[in-house]
Amino acid sequence: MTCQVKVLPSGHSFGVEAHETILEAALRQSVGLPYGCRDGACGACKGKVVEGEVEHGGAQDKALSAADRAQGMALFCCAKPKGDLTIEAREVAGVGDIQIKTLPCRVEKIDKIHDVAVLKLKLPVSERLQFKAGQYIDILMKDGKKRSFSIANAPHDDAFIELHIRHQPGGSFSDYVFNTMKEKEIMRFKGPLGSFFLREDSDKPIIMVASGTGFAPIKGIIEHAIHQGITRPIVFYWGARTPADLYLAEMAGQWQAQHTNITFIPVVSDALPEHNWQGRTGFVHQAVLDDFDSLAGYQVYACGAPVMVEAAHTAFIGERSLPADEFFSDAFFLSKDMGSASK
Ligand code: FES
Repeated sequence: MTCQVKVLPSGHSFGVEAHETILEAALRQSVGLPYGCRDGACGACKGKVVEGEVEHGGAQDKALSAADRAQGMALFCCAKPKGDLTIEAREVAGVGDIQIKTLPCRVEKIDKIHDVAVLKLKLPVSERLQFKAGQYIDILMKDGKKRSFSIANAPHDDAFIELHIRHQPGGSFSDYVFNTMKEKEIMRFKGPLGSFFLREDSDKPIIMVASGTGFAPIKGIIEHAIHQGITRPIVFYWGARTPADLYLAEMAGQWQAQHTNITFIPVVSDALPEHNWQGRTGFVHQAVLDDFDSLAGYQVYACGAPVMVEAAHTAFIGERSLPADEFFSDAFFLSKDMGSASK
């Protein structure tokens, strides 16, 4: 049975087949619902069911609380309709227009910087991946599992797809990348995915907050903004445990040196005396709170560890008056499939 879903306020409608989630059906029919993990963990796809009923599927309590359910909220990446529905969701221009493809790619280069592998993937000559800076891809493993990684380059610079993979000893895929993977190896991936990208219809100043390899999509977005000649002020906070974990700090420093609208603020949480760290210390979201009395006129893009993204979301909106719809995030959740941090 096909259920019809109407989206408010746009008035768009689409059909959902029995095997599909609401998000899967929307994307298949080019309706741009926002989303991130597709795993019921991040809450990026949360919206209201105004009329009709859904099965909540694998929605996780941290992303959809009992109070949310009582108010008629649902995670559209997990929810399946029980009949025709009317939902309320803020559609994202661009998400539904880009074709999601499954493609082969070749590992062209593996550079190891500190404990991060920078992979450059090459597509077949006849293929191109259209994507927005900040989106991610799923690497499809031979055993049917998948692993999500943010694209670290911008679309104008698409000779390769660049991924940043932190080595997590015991993490099966990152162990494989660090110990076994060879250049020229062939892999398959699906993408582009996600709605973490720059909202270019705004002229608000931007705060970007990354932890660890959350730097990767931010790099893509900033390179895109530079290429587009976007002059909105951008303050980029990058947090890590030690100075060495800021594995491409020099690159971020160059953005600041070469573009008057870009400011780079590295923040280290566990600096030791031998690190001789002269910069900011503490948690990265706290550095933003220390610097801004109000975020009422800003857009915020946050990417990295869920604990950071959640702390930033709560504090920026609750304590600094950031409008809730001006906070965009991509949190690197544990993947159910892999048992290790995703992206
Ligand atoms: S919870 Fe649905 S996309 Fe993350």
